[in-house]
Amino acid sequence: MDRPVSTLVGDGSVAATAVSCDASMQAHDFILVISGTNRPNSRTLAVARRVAQHYRDATIWCEFLDLQDLPPEVFSPQAYGSKPPAFQTVQQNVLDAAGLHVVVPEYNGSFPGVLKYFIDLLQFPESFDHKPVAFVGVASGSWGGLRAVEQMQMVFGYRNAHTYPERVFISEVNRKLAMDGALTDPAIDDRLAKQARGFAQFCGLFRRK
Ligand SMILES: Cc1cc2nc3c(=O)[nH]c(=O)nc-3n(C[C@H](O)[C@H](O)[C@H](O)COP(=O)(O)O)c2cc1C
Repeated sequence: MDRPVSTLVGDGSVAATAVSCDASMQAHDFILVISGTNRPNSRTLAVARRVAQHYRDATIWCEFLDLQDLPPEVFSPQAYGSKPPAFQTVQQNVLDAAGLHVVVPEYNGSFPGVLKYFIDLLQFPESFDHKPVAFVGVASGSWGGLRAVEQMQMVFGYRNAHTYPERVFISEVNRKLAMDGALTDPAIDDRLAKQARGFAQFCGLFRRK
């Protein structure tokens, strides 16, 4: 069955297109690509868009979440107790996704606070319980977000998620990302494409009946 590739919120630059799902996933399955910061003009967003493009190229349905587009009401302290209605679409897409592909920048030797806050807002335990998750690390430093991703893996591990073992780390991202958001290192782009295809198959192993 053909399903649309589309954006969930924000501009993931993934135009609505009719495509077929990967054979390893059911027609209603989709991957949710998450850009893990709300910093404007972040390189993480450019990388996340590239990841989404790889899904589209592989005719795998994906949705896109840019943390810049979280509804402002979620940053009220009251949101811990009562989720704003505007958050419901985001929550439902996390629940419905066959897998989460998270692009994580390194901020102060860790992941951004907004990414953890987003996780803290999601329903427990069903949001991540046995949910497949893939990681890409992004940093201007030479470790490519390794610390940020591994710390994030601890959080997802606590929440019983299934981590896809093939991670991608992009070090010195300032040098490797052109102004138009294109990756100038073909080896990294190939790794992202391979990771997307492999993760879709991995998600198929855990698909709901
Ligand atoms: C608050 C903040 C803290 C950062 N800390 C680190 C760090 O610890 N290590 C590192 O390699 N880069 C660090 N950076 C640089 C980011 O890795 C760099 O901006 C990269 O492009 C990824 O972040 P971005 O998606 O916001 O662009 C930091 C950037 C910000 C905004």
